[in-house]
Amino acid sequence: MKNIVLLVVIILVSLSSSLAKVTYNVASFGAKGDGNTDSTKAFLSAWSSACNSTKSALIVVPSGTYLLATAITFAGERCQSSSITIRIYGTLVAPFDYNAIANSGDWIRFHRVNHVTISGGTLDARGGSLWSCKTSGKNCPSGATSLGLYNSKNIAISGLKSINSQMFHILIDGCINAKLQGVSISASGDSPNTDGIHLISSTGVTILNSKIATGDDCISIGPGNSNVWMQTVACGPGHGISIGSLGWALDEPGVQNITVTTTTFRGTQNGVRIKTWARASHGFVTGAVFQHVTMVNVSNPIIIEQRYCPNDSCPDQVSGVTIKDVVYEDIHGTSATQVAVKLDCNPGNPCTGIRLQDVNLNYIRGGQPAVSSCAYAAGTASGILHPTSCL
Ligand SMILES: *[C@@H]1O[C@H](CO)[C@@H](O)[C@H](O)[C@H]1NC(C)=O
Ligand SMILES: *[C@@H]1O[C@H](CO)[C@@H](O)[C@H](O)[C@H]1NC(C)=O
Ligand SMILES: *[C@@H]1O[C@H](CO)[C@@H](O)[C@H](O)[C@H]1NC(C)=O
Ligand SMILES: *[C@@H]1O[C@H](CO)[C@@H](O)[C@H](O)[C@H]1NC(C)=O
Repeated sequence: MKNIVLLVVIILVSLSSSLAKVTYNVASFGAKGDGNTDSTKAFLSAWSSACNSTKSALIVVPSGTYLLATAITFAGERCQSSSITIRIYGTLVAPFDYNAIANSGDWIRFHRVNHVTISGGTLDARGGSLWSCKTSGKNCPSGATSLGLYNSKNIAISGLKSINSQMFHILIDGCINAKLQGVSISASGDSPNTDGIHLISSTGVTILNSKIATGDDCISIGPGNSNVWMQTVACGPGHGISIGSLGWALDEPGVQNITVTTTTFRGTQNGVRIKTWARASHGFVTGAVFQHVTMVNVSNPIIIEQRYCPNDSCPDQVSGVTIKDVVYEDIHGTSATQVAVKLDCNPGNPCTGIRLQDVNLNYIRGGQPAVSSCAYAAGTASGILHPTSCL
């Protein structure tokens, strides 16, 4: 009996030690939460140790303000550890001089990582001075994305806050299976190109319970994305949730199976949008569902725009992108303009399989009813339809 108990204890102890994470605290690698000491090297050393660990690794960033004075890349291709969790209690800041990171593409980059979790923390890229440069019309660098994840798998980001990005806040490019939840993003409503979350060529991205207030799209879904699920997102100010811009390139991968559900847009330029360049392209959108959406004073609550061309780079003047099977279900609230539903497709390439069901949008000014406007859009409408469907 005693031997059995001993055996069980030994098994439990060895099991728990094999499951236990090895912890690396950035402070023990020389990081200082004083806001002034460049902690880039210390973060990289902690990453390198975690990555070399043969067990699951935990990197802890204690409370405090850590300066990451240059662009930093966490590379995963040679990692041994089965997973790495980065638990951030503090704030990571970029230098006040935007030039330190503005030409780097990303400020904080993860490349070819697998099973990485980022939990908590604040990223402050201090983008304000670059926005001023851009809005003054001077010649300025394009700016860095605050957090870029590339060619990675099984990513989890939770409780992370990003403020004042120079350009995009979060970019997910070429990734498989990424789950973002409880993310909070904020930048001024007039900050240029500060998309909240931008997706390119990724599959299986889930965005839950997040709050995005920024100067450009809250979430933008570029070419090559599939199986994207967005639920309980609060967007505003911002330009809404956009599939696009698509169709800039001729050979462009399509977008498939995108869902936005239980989401609120407040004072945004658009609600749910599909936007394509008026250029030749083999791109497509097949299967998008927008449901249980509340619009509060949104300028273009439901919009498909296939003649997007802000500059004179559209020799064709029509978009080659095919749009089909798009569902708008239970979309309600107020529109800041009279045209609450605008489906503007192409004569050569009409939108098909559009379904409107229970769309109840009112023009906020009252007096006049909201209207809908369709061009080359075909599909069905049912249930409550305010404005009257133009399909
Ligand atoms: C991690 O492993 C690589 C390759 O084996 C080595 O070059 C590097 O020094 C190691 N890093 C640490 C912190 O042990
Ligand atoms: C569509 O995407 C969701 C996740 O967003 C996934 O659960 C579902 O299986 C996908 N459907 C198809 C047909 O791939
Ligand atoms: C609605 O939004 C417009 C700007 O798009 C703003 O001028 C107006 O004050 C807002 N109205 C309400 C009632 O919030
Ligand atoms: C038009 O805008 C696109 C996208 O921003 C850019 O790539 C392109 O160079 C611009 N073309 C011209 C002629 O300005």
